[in-house]
Amino acid sequence: MIIEKSKNEVSSPTLTPSTKSFKMIGKTMFGLEEILAEELRNLGAQDIEPINRAVAFTGTMETLYKANYCCRTALAILKPFAEFEANNEQELYDNVNQIKWEQIMDVDCTFFIESAANSKIFTNSYYAALKTKDAIVDRFRRMFGRRPTIETENADYKFNLHITNNKVTLLMNSSGDSLHKRGYRQGVGIAPINEVLAAGLIQLSGWKADSNFYDPMCGSGTLLIEAAMYANNIPAQYYRKKFGFMKWKNYTPSEWKSVKEKADRNIKDFDYEICGCDIDRNVLEQAEKNLRFTKLHHDVCLYHDSFQNQDAPEGECMIITNPPYGERITIDDLNSLYSSIGDKFKSFGNGKTAWLITSDFRAMKNIGLKPSRKIQLYNGALECRFLKFDLYDGSKKAKYQNDEDYK
Ligand SMILES: C[S@@+](CC[C@H](N)C(=O)[O-])C[C@H]1O[C@@H](n2cnc3c(N)ncnc32)[C@H](O)[C@@H]1O
Repeated sequence: MIIEKSKNEVSSPTLTPSTKSFKMIGKTMFGLEEILAEELRNLGAQDIEPINRAVAFTGTMETLYKANYCCRTALAILKPFAEFEANNEQELYDNVNQIKWEQIMDVDCTFFIESAANSKIFTNSYYAALKTKDAIVDRFRRMFGRRPTIETENADYKFNLHITNNKVTLLMNSSGDSLHKRGYRQGVGIAPINEVLAAGLIQLSGWKADSNFYDPMCGSGTLLIEAAMYANNIPAQYYRKKFGFMKWKNYTPSEWKSVKEKADRNIKDFDYEICGCDIDRNVLEQAEKNLRFTKLHHDVCLYHDSFQNQDAPEGECMIITNPPYGERITIDDLNSLYSSIGDKFKSFGNGKTAWLITSDFRAMKNIGLKPSRKIQLYNGALECRFLKFDLYDGSKKAKYQNDEDYK
């Protein structure tokens, strides 16, 4: 555990020797904490503790590289490096100003601070970030007569400022851009699902890549690509080139290369079918572009059709889908769409399991099948349910339309 408590002697987080163990925080989405904890466990992380929308753990720089490269459900891997109390703005400024920022970043670099505050003292997290920025640049100005600049996109260094009451924590963002930016998106539809959420749904469903996979409303193909990457053991960030830690002073390219090569050696073939269907030809063209970029287009087939006309692959199959939620569609149409989803699921029969994520609590009742599991998740700001339907010959429809069945 290396959260430094001292006001004056906060050692540089970017100088930690690669063999030394330190605390990290993996940020994720609500409901995916246990999945991320399991992913970290499989990578050999220690002291794993799921917390709200995050997982705390310890490990070395090698663990940090692995977590960034392999965790499908992490949004960012953060490294706490300063913790202190501040009872007013001046104390925040003074404590931040005393940190040896010149050991962390060069004067000519760019940086950005993301902030979150749950505090009666610091009611405006944006303002707290501004004070923190002032304290950093004033220190540089005093020492060098120049200062690093703020950059909102593509900053060299990203810091997170967390304030709970009077307890302030500063963290380095080792990922840089959010890890949902996998690097494979060449085109999107109107409402693409977040890649981290898609990967989370696949793991929450319990699919072990031991059967076929089908998304009947696949849009630009996010669930299909995440399923294919998972099934082939392709690391989550295989297509991404840039990470925040690459600017750190203790970044060791050879160690990073070895982490990557080791993970890439586990890529394997997948023997089942992965298929998607969508009614919109334009969005399928985006899916095709994304699949070609990943070179997974030979492994995934796309059907341009209405899902009502399309059957799932034969035999055992995991079906996961993200239908429209009703932002651009009338309620009547939406009710009948969800009703026909229920009809279609019912027609699949034995050997298939279907999961559906939606934020439309009214429309989902029209599915008319009783879900065997309901998981609360968020798609951005939208509260959703991820519903499981065990399908069997003669699944009963039109019986389960109570709110309680779906909530
Ligand atoms: C929320 S989007 C799916 C987004 C997708 N998960 C992605 O990441 O791009 C819903 C999709 O359902 C498709 N859709 C709507 N009605 C359909 C139908 N009857 N048959 C097949 N697809 C349909 C839409 O064209 C749209 O692409």
